[in-house]
Amino acid sequence: MSGGRIVAGLLAPHPPHLVYAENPPQNEPKAECGWETLRWGYERLRKQLENIDYDVIVILSPHWQTYIGTHFLGLNNFKSLSVDPIFPNLFRYHYDINIDVELAKMIHDEAESDGLSVRMMENPDFRVDYGTITSCHLTNPNWDKPIVSISSNRSVHYYSVEVMQEMMIKLGEATRKAIWKSGKKAVVISSNSLSHRHFVNESEVPEDMSKEHITNHSQYLWDMKMINMMKNGKTKELIEMMPEFTEQTVAETDGGALTWMLSSLNYPTYPATIHEYGTIIGTGNAIAAWDTNDEKRKIEGVSSK
Ligand SMILES: [Fe+2]
Repeated sequence: MSGGRIVAGLLAPHPPHLVYAENPPQNEPKAECGWETLRWGYERLRKQLENIDYDVIVILSPHWQTYIGTHFLGLNNFKSLSVDPIFPNLFRYHYDINIDVELAKMIHDEAESDGLSVRMMENPDFRVDYGTITSCHLTNPNWDKPIVSISSNRSVHYYSVEVMQEMMIKLGEATRKAIWKSGKKAVVISSNSLSHRHFVNESEVPEDMSKEHITNHSQYLWDMKMINMMKNGKTKELIEMMPEFTEQTVAETDGGALTWMLSSLNYPTYPATIHEYGTIIGTGNAIAAWDTNDEKRKIEGVSSK
C-alpha cells in the first residue's frame, strides 16, 4: 500500500497544568479553573480537527528521553498511572493508550535504513511519559485514535543542538516516507513549549492567574519571532534559527520535536494557524496547526524527494 499522507502538523504543548485545569475523569487532582486562554486555544484546535479526517496520531515528546537512539512504543496497549515528577499535586493521570504498532515499526524501519539508531520499546510495564499523554489528551480527549509514540533522543546533551537538528531532520523525512508507504492519514504532533525559563516556586494556589506571566521580556520577544515565522510560512528560516532560539530561551525545542515535525511536513511555506499563545509558570506556549489539506497540498514522502 502507499499514498498515505500527513494531513496536519501540530505544535501542541504539554504543561500538565492544562489537563489539571480541565478536570477530566482520568486525572485525580481537581482544579477550580486556570489557564483558560490556552485551554480555549486547544478547544479551537479540536474544532479544526473535527473537519480533518485522520487515522492515527504520531507524536514526539521531549519527556521520553533516550540516550542511545530513537525509540518507539511497540506494544498494542499501555495502561497505567502517570505521575508528573515535578507536579505530582497536579497530574496523576490514569491512561489507557492504544498504539499503532504497524506504523511505529514502519517508521522505525525507515529510520534504520536511513542510518539512524532506533529501537522498539516492548516492555509491557513501561510508563508512558506525561508529555505524550498531555498533548494527546488535549488534542483528542476521546482517545479514539491510536498513536505512534516516539522518544526524544538527547543528542543535544551528548553533542549539540546542531547535531540534534541533523538527526531530527532525518527522522522527519523517515516519518514522512513511512506514512506515505502505510497508506494512512496521520496527524503529527510536536509536543513542546517554546521558551522554557520557568518560575522556581509554585504559587500557593496553582491556578491563581494573578501570578501568571512570561518569565522575562527577552523570552517573550524570542517567542514572538518564532511565531511570526510560523505565521508567515518561514519554517526553513525557523529551523535555521532553532539553535540560537533554543540556547537563548532554554527552549523545549531542545528535544527535537519541532524540528522533526516541520521536517516531516517538508517545511511548510504556507501559514500556520496560531490558535493561542500563553504562559504556564512563566514558559511560553503556542498552539499551532499546519493543515496540509487546506490548500490541497499533498505531503508525499517518496514523490516529494
Ligand atoms: Fe515539558
